[in-house]
Formats: sequence, C-alpha cells, structure tokens
Amino acid sequence: MYSLARELLFKLSPETSHELSIDLIGAGGRLGLNALLTKSPTRLPTQVMGLQFANPVGLAAGLDKNGDAIDGFAQLGFGFVEIGTVTPRPQPGNPKPRLFRLPEADAVINRMGFNNLGVDHLLQRVRAAKFKGVLGINIGKNFDTPVERAVDDYLACLDKVYAHASYVTVNVSSPNTPGLRSLQFGDQLKALLEALRLRQEDLAQLHGKRVPLAIKIAPDMSDEETALVAAALVEAGMDAVIATNTTLSREGVEGLAHSDEAGGLSGAPVRDKSTHVVKVLAGELGGRLPIIAVGGITEGKHAAEKIAAGASLVQIYSGFIYKGPALIREAVDAIAALRK
Ligand SMILES: Cc1cc2nc3c(=O)[nH]c(=O)nc-3n(C[C@H](O)[C@H](O)[C@H](O)COP(=O)(O)O)c2cc1C
Repeated sequence: MYSLARELLFKLSPETSHELSIDLIGAGGRLGLNALLTKSPTRLPTQVMGLQFANPVGLAAGLDKNGDAIDGFAQLGFGFVEIGTVTPRPQPGNPKPRLFRLPEADAVINRMGFNNLGVDHLLQRVRAAKFKGVLGINIGKNFDTPVERAVDDYLACLDKVYAHASYVTVNVSSPNTPGLRSLQFGDQLKALLEALRLRQEDLAQLHGKRVPLAIKIAPDMSDEETALVAAALVEAGMDAVIATNTTLSREGVEGLAHSDEAGGLSGAPVRDKSTHVVKVLAGELGGRLPIIAVGGITEGKHAAEKIAAGASLVQIYSGFIYKGPALIREAVDAIAALRK
C-alpha cells in the first residue's frame, strides 16, 4: 500500500511531500485512523534510561520538528517519538530548495537549518497530544545566536521543555548550523555538559522528576574523538548518547543526481559509518551509558545490526521515507528475533 503512496508523494518536491505527509499523519492521528495501517500493536517492552518503551524503534528527530503529528506517528507503531530540533525562537531555516532525494541510494541530503516555529509553539502541540508513551524533545540553538552563547539557547529550551519531555536530546551534531559541531569537542563540550547537568539538577528539584539527557553526535569524528566524547559524557553524568546525525561524506553517492548538494547525507550510505560509531562508543562506555542508534536503517535487519553493535534503542528517519510504516514492524520483529 505504501508503494502507491510513495509513487504519488515522490512526484511532488521533497519538501511539499514532507509537509503533506506530516499533515496526513497528523490528521490520521487525530481521527485515530493510523492504527488501522499497522497490522497489530508492535509491542516489545524495553527499559532504557529508567523509561519504559513500548518497543525499541523510535522516530528520529527532524521529521516532526514542531510536534505537529505526535499521536499520528505513535499510532503507526513507533515505540517512542522524538520531536524537534526546536530552537528558543522561531526561524525559517535555509532558503529552498534544501531537501533532496537520492532514490538510487535510498538516501537523502538536507540542509534544512533548523526551520521550526520555536519552543513555545512546540509546547502547545505537545500539550494538545494524547500520546502517553515516551516523547523525546530535541533542542538546538538559533542560527543567529553566536556559538559562544550556544549554552544560553540550550538552557532556555531545557527550562521550557523539561516538564513535558520523557527525555531531552541535545543536538550538537547538525551540519547545517555553522559552528554547532564544534560543541562536540574539548572545553566547549565540557562547559556545555556541565551547564546542562547543573540545570538538570535544579529542574529535577523544581519539578520533582529527573528527565534524562541524551547527546546526539555526528558520524564524522575519528575513533579517538568519539572516544573522548564518550569519556566526557560519562564524566558529566549524561544519561544517553544518540549516534548518529547525518554525514558530510559523500561516499556511496558519488555521481548521483544531487550528490553535490551541500548538507547532511542520511539513509543507506550513512549506515556503516554510523554503526561503526555505535561500536566505538559501546567499547568505550562498557554499558555505563545506553546508546540510541540511528543512521541508515532501511530494513529490519539493519535495526538488529545496531542492537548487536551495542545499542539499546534505534531510530529511523530516511528509511521511513523510502519504506513507509511497514519498516517499523520489520525492525521490531528483527530485534525481537535477536532477543530469543
Ligand atoms: C530532512 C532531515 C532533517 C533532519 N533534521 C534533524 C533535526 O532537526 N535534528 C536532529 O537531531 N536530526 C535531524 N536529522 C537527522 C536524523 O534524525 C538522523 O539522525 C539521520 O537522518 C540518520 O538517520 P537515517 O539514516 O535513518 O535518516 C534530519 C534528517 C533529515 C533527513
């Protein structure tokens, strides 16, 4: 059934088709129709970060940036839904076109640049949602906030979303906000993590609940750099790491239409790079911090590979565009088979 929908959606520009999909999934969610698209509930209870997940396959950040279709995505069978990246103030993102399909490679290139309606709008949407499962809220900085003051933006978002999120993801790995990725290194990373941890403690007191913090990293670091990030996350008492965001590499798409567009590459070509980061992290962390793996899951078996590499949960973005909702069940089933 999705192959028909895909044929129609792929006739539209990627961004129009994206907006239409969010509208349809959101409307289906409000009417309670989306569950009809899945054969039966996809249950595979999983506990990570002290949270109870209906299954370990989640929606990755960036598809529902404003939280417009939370119920709709949940009804499709995702075990958790991550919305955002959201910034303190609304911002338009980069000029269009900024989203490109590379269908021959099951890949996407995007340079959206955190287009979003701001954290206040997102919270309205969260309040309107009925979803009672695990909701991640992914936070970032505004384009025009100097990177030296990035911490202020993360803290402003954290203050606002804290009471409404099951966990909060700190996105320091988008390639489309100049300077953002520098926050993954050295003293900048340590200062950010320290500020976040202190604020998390204050907010835990204020709200009477501890909301876990996950840090989302890029696949474009050397193994040594990834190991340093892992050590810094443990040292700072973070709760999870999400690996990975999109890549700047063009390996695997050379010569294809749109492969020269600027931005982050996702989908099948990032899969092995991303799984490699999961393996390096797993080796360094030795179970001290859970890993949420994302990047290039386009078949159920890829989800199982990520779990075998050391992840506790997985997320999907590009694979959902190419394969549709059936991929969620396929991934859950493949992970279930691993547990047997
Ligand atoms: C169009 C697009 C927009 C994205 N926006 C965000 C975002 O706002 N925040 C974020 O943390 N990741 C964002 N991502 C990255 C995805 O969450 C994911 O980490 C990456 O695409 C790799 O997974 P995939 O191969 O399953 O797509 C975006 C990806 C795409 C394709």
